[in-house]
Amino acid sequence: MEEKIAVYPGSFDPITYGHLDIIKRAVKIFDKIIVAVAHNYDKQSLFTPEEKIEMITEVVKGYPTVSVDTFSGLLMEYMKKAKATVALRGLRATSDFEYEYHMAAMNRSLDDEIDTLFMMTGKDYFFISSRTIKEVASLGGAVAGLVPENVARKLKQKFPQRQKG
Ligand code: PNS
Repeated sequence: MEEKIAVYPGSFDPITYGHLDIIKRAVKIFDKIIVAVAHNYDKQSLFTPEEKIEMITEVVKGYPTVSVDTFSGLLMEYMKKAKATVALRGLRATSDFEYEYHMAAMNRSLDDEIDTLFMMTGKDYFFISSRTIKEVASLGGAVAGLVPENVARKLKQKFPQRQKG
């Protein structure tokens, strides 16, 4: 039987425990998961694609079926080349839904052989987003427990004077 390959795409600026929770659960469903960091030229990122890859690789190192990659251009084109049939997305709240619904519909119109699978974010992580993590870290708040340790360390380096926790 053919391998079931899922791509988990995103900005991952940076990866959080919310993302990791989705990855851990998806490991039980798919033969292979590619965490695909989008290289968006129009989106302002705190971390470079290289830094993101390094952080994610460290975080998923205990999961042999998970690999990490970057892509630019259309997700559907990247997925076709990777022979992946499922795009994985986490949903935190109904506020995520509209954006995700439009994106899934657009992707399906581009390639109807690829499906988007939504997983509800774990109950302990529904309030975490990369955007709020960066805001809290930049203002000196503690992010330990919300992001993996290596990510918390990297955030400290990005915001050296203000970061406490
Ligand atoms: O973590 P994010 O920022 O919510 O991830 C969004 C992402 C990267 C999955 C999405 O912007 C994307 O797939 N970008 C690639 C360009 C593309 O394929 N666009 C068509 C879908 S509307």
